[in-house]
Amino acid sequence: MDELVSLAKRRGFIFQSSDIYGGLQGVYDYGPLGVELKNNLKAAWWRSMVYDRDDVEGLDAAILTNPLTLRHSGHEDTFSDPLVDCKNCKARFRADHLESDVCPSCGSKELTEPRPFNLMFQTQVGPVADGQNFAYLRPETAQAIFTNFKNIMDSTSPKLPFGIAQIGKAFRNEITPRNFIFRVREFEQMELEFFVKPGTDEEWHNRWVADRLDWWERQGIPKDSIELLEVPGDELAHYSKATTDLMYRFPHGLEELEGIANRTDFDLGSHTKNQEEFEIHAQVKENKDSNNKLAVHDLETKKWEIPFVIEPSAGVDRGVLAVLNEAFKKESLEDGSERIVMQFKPHLAPIKAAVLPLKRNNKDIVIKAGQIKRQLSRLGLGRIVYEDTGNIGKGYRRHDEAGTPFCITIDFQTIEQDGTVTIRNRDTMKQERVSEEDLADFMLNHINNMPE
Ligand code: GAP
Repeated sequence: MDELVSLAKRRGFIFQSSDIYGGLQGVYDYGPLGVELKNNLKAAWWRSMVYDRDDVEGLDAAILTNPLTLRHSGHEDTFSDPLVDCKNCKARFRADHLESDVCPSCGSKELTEPRPFNLMFQTQVGPVADGQNFAYLRPETAQAIFTNFKNIMDSTSPKLPFGIAQIGKAFRNEITPRNFIFRVREFEQMELEFFVKPGTDEEWHNRWVADRLDWWERQGIPKDSIELLEVPGDELAHYSKATTDLMYRFPHGLEELEGIANRTDFDLGSHTKNQEEFEIHAQVKENKDSNNKLAVHDLETKKWEIPFVIEPSAGVDRGVLAVLNEAFKKESLEDGSERIVMQFKPHLAPIKAAVLPLKRNNKDIVIKAGQIKRQLSRLGLGRIVYEDTGNIGKGYRRHDEAGTPFCITIDFQTIEQDGTVTIRNRDTMKQERVSEEDLADFMLNHINNMPE
């Protein structure tokens, strides 16, 4: 982990937020390479969830959430962790993270009994600070999918089964944020709520577990580095009938990368008015605040029915950490030196190619390199950079660490002889000459932004 954190800072993937003021615990910023990597991961998820399917629509809902939403979702009552205080040094811990009844900070045995600590952040809305006008920062993106259920039904008329996908920020006031970007207070989720007919839910749950394992494999996370955990009954979230966690071998241990939950009809049922009109399977509390029913009309039975929902919910930041961890390779070279290379899948690589002029003081070479950079940028594959640091060998090493799949060098042969350029492969370090006319095809064939 230490090597990853240091590379992440040195090369501009991830920084501690508010670093110059000593940081803010559990909050990180993504730098020039990090933002590209993160965007590419989110784009790959969106492609596979929305564009590659005909039964999923997208949503981008607000972060500020009406407290009634999170009251009826059960989060006000139950979204808490058990908190323990050390009476001696005043440090706070999650009770379920303590390995013994001894304070990890000072060794004292004077610990309080565990008590629930609600993880939701509140913020004042409007100018009057009377404690009444507040909103929550959403603790999961899912709730806005449920509260928009009718809007999306009315505007797109989908038929069961269908899903609503969303990527966005979520906030949790974690008691002990830790392990770099693994457990943080501000993070992003990629969530799909997939609505199905009651009775087909278990089959769909299994299908989504298999589907998500395949997807992570396409992002460079092999199946054998993920273990499936069936969450025990007494650890299930309040809305879940069954949850399968994808547990990945992070540098600090085996931990949850994504959870796939069978949320039954709990959420739509909880947010529905006149609940007595429906056969709701989950235990829901009465709702006198909602002004709508969140149900679908079954054309065969001619009845209104509240669907069940299967929810694959992945953390973007945990995904980035897993992708960084798998990509990180340290190799000993024949000349005795060592190189660090980030072997990202090309569609995730922050920079797709670097164009380097062999001589930065040769006008013709520089102009040609600039032209090629612009030509390749227009392919829309992602970021192509022009780099004239003057030392080609150092440029290759820098781009190995950035995970750039190809370095394209423009030299005298390009200008004076045959119009070919050198393409140096990040993984094999082999070089080949390709003619300028074939460059676009080369890039399109090698940087597949739409892997199956
Ligand atoms: N809507 C369901 C839900 O929010 P969750 O298991 O609490 O379920 C889903 O969160 C995913 O969000 C997790 O698998 C994890 O990847 C990510 N996540 C949750 N809390 C996080 C945190 N404090 N920091 C980073 N990622 C987090």
